[in-house]
Amino acid sequence: MSSAPFNSADFRRACGLFATGVAVLTTRAADGAPHGITINSFTSLSLVPPLAMVAIARNCTFIEHFESSGFFAVNILREEQVDLSIRFAQLPEGRFNGLRWAPAKTGSPILEEVLGWIDCVTEEVIGVGDHRVLIGRVTGVHTGHGRPLLFFRGRYARLDETV
Ligand SMILES: Cc1cc2nc3c(=O)[nH]c(=O)nc-3n(C[C@H](O)[C@H](O)[C@H](O)COP(=O)(O)O)c2cc1C
Repeated sequence: MSSAPFNSADFRRACGLFATGVAVLTTRAADGAPHGITINSFTSLSLVPPLAMVAIARNCTFIEHFESSGFFAVNILREEQVDLSIRFAQLPEGRFNGLRWAPAKTGSPILEEVLGWIDCVTEEVIGVGDHRVLIGRVTGVHTGHGRPLLFFRGRYARLDETV
């Protein structure tokens, strides 16, 4: 099937049809300060060995911390945690102010009450287009109970029903 010419907005709209979960990707700076950004680019990559990948925009303010720390955690959000997603996508500073978190084995911040988390040691960083892809070896996981926050057509959504 042939496709019409398309621009960035068309590409973004098409990608928006691929419904995803929402997570807060966290790491620490050299001084121990926690940093985090909202992402939906998380993908499980390999089961043996356990590998996960995320993509971070090159122009992200915190990209250096994610690259130099050598570790990151994917904090998977619950459907009640839209406010956390907005905070970690939009607040210019103080994103962790007033939040409770604890370090995982790598040191990655784990936010209290997330649906689940995946802690990783960074194995590879690849520059691709306008993003940097981080591939991590999974060193710890936690699976909670509850329902995930979703992102679909550029909007937050909930699971309607399981088919
Ligand atoms: C639902 C959602 C998913 C996002 N996914 C990503 C992502 O996968 N990678 C990324 O670099 N930014 C993603 N962003 C944007 C970042 O959260 C945002 O640009 C970052 O927190 C901005 O930090 P900065 O302005 O300080 O650079 C996403 C935002 C939202 C709301």
